[in-house]
Amino acid sequence: VDEIVRSISTCQRCPLAKTRVRAVPGQGPVPAGLMLIGEAPGRSEDELGQPFSGAAGRVLDSMLEAAGLSRDRVYITSVIKCRPPKNRNPSKEEVAACAIHLQRQIERLQPRIIVLMGNVALKALVDHSLTIGTTRGKILRNDGLLYLPVYHPAAVLYNRTLANQLRDDFMLLAHLVADPQSGE
Ligand code: URA
Repeated sequence: VDEIVRSISTCQRCPLAKTRVRAVPGQGPVPAGLMLIGEAPGRSEDELGQPFSGAAGRVLDSMLEAAGLSRDRVYITSVIKCRPPKNRNPSKEEVAACAIHLQRQIERLQPRIIVLMGNVALKALVDHSLTIGTTRGKILRNDGLLYLPVYHPAAVLYNRTLANQLRDDFMLLAHLVADPQSGE
């Protein structure tokens, strides 16, 4: 068993360890050129131990498909690995306690592109003062790594306008994957 997966599955670094059914380390090839990062597991993910396995996952799959990308070629995870009770937002303390896991995953995967799905991922990985509403679809570059902030798939579930914007951003992602210099 992979050491990072094992340390996430047995993690006791924050109180979510007491209420989770399963930790959700992530899923995908290692290494991976493209990494997608969400917020936190929900009910389905907590029960199955797999990321984006519920309604948000179906949205994500449709976006990947529209962009000609398939789930088995990308690595999918979330900022925090355990479900917050009643799906409340993760606390600052939980994000801080969990950061070591995400850092180790990024080091291991060596992605060229990271898609930040939602405000929690954008703020945790790039800058606390940024918001998805104004940053989505804009490519951020740092040390040869490209970050693409997009709406969280759960946020577009009942909003056609946001769903169209998410699809546009995944089309941009498809171009970036084909040519990481594009958009420069
Ligand atoms: N939302 C997330 O951010 N991550 C998951 O794994 C599922 C839903």
